[in-house]
Amino acid sequence: MNLPQNYVRIFDTTLRDGEQSPGATLTSEEKYEVAKALSRLGVDVIEAGFPAASPDDLAAVQRIAETVGRTVPEGRPARPLANGDFVLEPPIIAGLARAAERDIERAFAGVRGAKHPRIHTFLATSPIHREHKLRMSRDEVIKRATEMVKFARSLCEDIEFSPEDAGRTEPEFLYEVLASVIEAGATTLNIPDTVGYTLPHEFGALIAGIKQNVRGIERAVISVHCHNDLGLATANALAGIAAGARQAEVTINGIGERAGNTSLEEVVMTLATRHPAFGLQTGIDTTQLTRVSRLVSARTGMVVQPNKAIVGANAFAHESGIHQDGMLKHSETYEIMRPEAVGAQKTLLVLGKHSGRHAFGNRLAELGYPLEGEALESAFARFKLLADKKKHITDADLLALASSETKSAPEAYKLLAVHVSCGSGLPTASVRLEGPDGSELTTAAIGTGPVHAVFTAVDSLVQAPAELLEYSINAVTEGIDALGEASVRIRVKTEGLRDDAQFGTGRSPVFHGHAADTDVIVASTKAYLSALNRLVAMIAAKKGESSVPRVSAGV
Ligand code: KIV
Ligand code: ZN
Repeated sequence: MNLPQNYVRIFDTTLRDGEQSPGATLTSEEKYEVAKALSRLGVDVIEAGFPAASPDDLAAVQRIAETVGRTVPEGRPARPLANGDFVLEPPIIAGLARAAERDIERAFAGVRGAKHPRIHTFLATSPIHREHKLRMSRDEVIKRATEMVKFARSLCEDIEFSPEDAGRTEPEFLYEVLASVIEAGATTLNIPDTVGYTLPHEFGALIAGIKQNVRGIERAVISVHCHNDLGLATANALAGIAAGARQAEVTINGIGERAGNTSLEEVVMTLATRHPAFGLQTGIDTTQLTRVSRLVSARTGMVVQPNKAIVGANAFAHESGIHQDGMLKHSETYEIMRPEAVGAQKTLLVLGKHSGRHAFGNRLAELGYPLEGEALESAFARFKLLADKKKHITDADLLALASSETKSAPEAYKLLAVHVSCGSGLPTASVRLEGPDGSELTTAAIGTGPVHAVFTAVDSLVQAPAELLEYSINAVTEGIDALGEASVRIRVKTEGLRDDAQFGTGRSPVFHGHAADTDVIVASTKAYLSALNRLVAMIAAKKGESSVPRVSAGV
């Protein structure tokens, strides 16, 4: 393989490891939407899911492989070094598989429709996993890993192997496993710090040791996959890259199991901002980072902390007088990156309330939302309403409008009307919904505040076994006329239903919902209903389900 040594492949696992965050479960439609955004962003590999987990996961991966995996998005800047045999267009679509024939077959069934399919198979190698989880000896681990890589290679040219918990594996044994899987046909060796235990200098030394000691390593790409349990995921991934890794496995906003994965935006912007220190490049269009971060946050319900590096709301805000004074004199006094470089500037839309549908549709398409037909009509109608109420419409407003046109889950219950009265007396809400059979359902309730009153009224109409875990409301932009974006997370309350075995998910059933509106009560009600609709759909699916139960990746 002809490897440009200064190029780091970005392998995005938002749709697999990221989706393993509790409550971040995405519908097939949402996965497709995120995959399209990742492709526009310029990632090299999209890990689209874990096809053996359930028929739904398989179908979602197939859809991404056959669409996103076959076309380069229109208007996307070409990735540097494209057309080599290392930087591929369109992106590689990967499917995860345990080291078992059935999983590997499923993974291939998921990705085979892509122009560049990849099977990513893994087996734990650390003593604690070998003894307690796998109950396998060292020889058995090598034998299984080798056989399964060979099997995968009989189906697909591009094979990635991960020795799970590599960070806690004896280095000499790890070298042996890696040499054997290269021999068996693995083309990428991913080194996971599965539990986020290693320190940057240790992880760097691990990668350097692999580069130096593994037989045949020049025939494979070394990849890093770091978890953030000690807040070191980005530092560890960068140490691995500095030591010779040329693929980084990352997620948008750093979401993932427990404390999450290495965040894509942090690695990419470090390599770009400190280019002289690394001398490396990626194919990412960094100006899309903020937008994709927002999309993933909205769709997964995982709120981005305001001080999050690169994409947090405060990442480019300067509060103190001394800093503001410095910024006015020269922006580099307190800014190492320009907000425009990550798409964080507030692009004012030149459209106003007199603008036409055509200009509106074009701008949305430029932002990655090529809406058509009914969805365009409905977004345009909401844009007009917004333009009546709000002086300056920004791209952030447009994105909030467009993203709420993408139906994320089947809507059993729809909001028809909500009204609150509050003040120092009894906060009261009246709510009218359309039910699953089309009937109108109306009720009123009191609460400790207007949102509590609304949620209580909705609860009495929907009667789903839901418990509110989290509720937040944020302004999409500054100003008194800003759109409010509400985010809600709920979980199943009933003891029986909380049982994973009954749900067959292998995960705790947490559901999220999000919605935007200039009226924060409307946004909150829609967000709550959207979360309840997911829960109701899950219960309905469980009742009617006859197919294979979903299993977790166990990673
Ligand atoms: O963290 C991990 O070990 C994983 C592997 C499947 C790569 O996610
Ligand atoms: Zn992981």
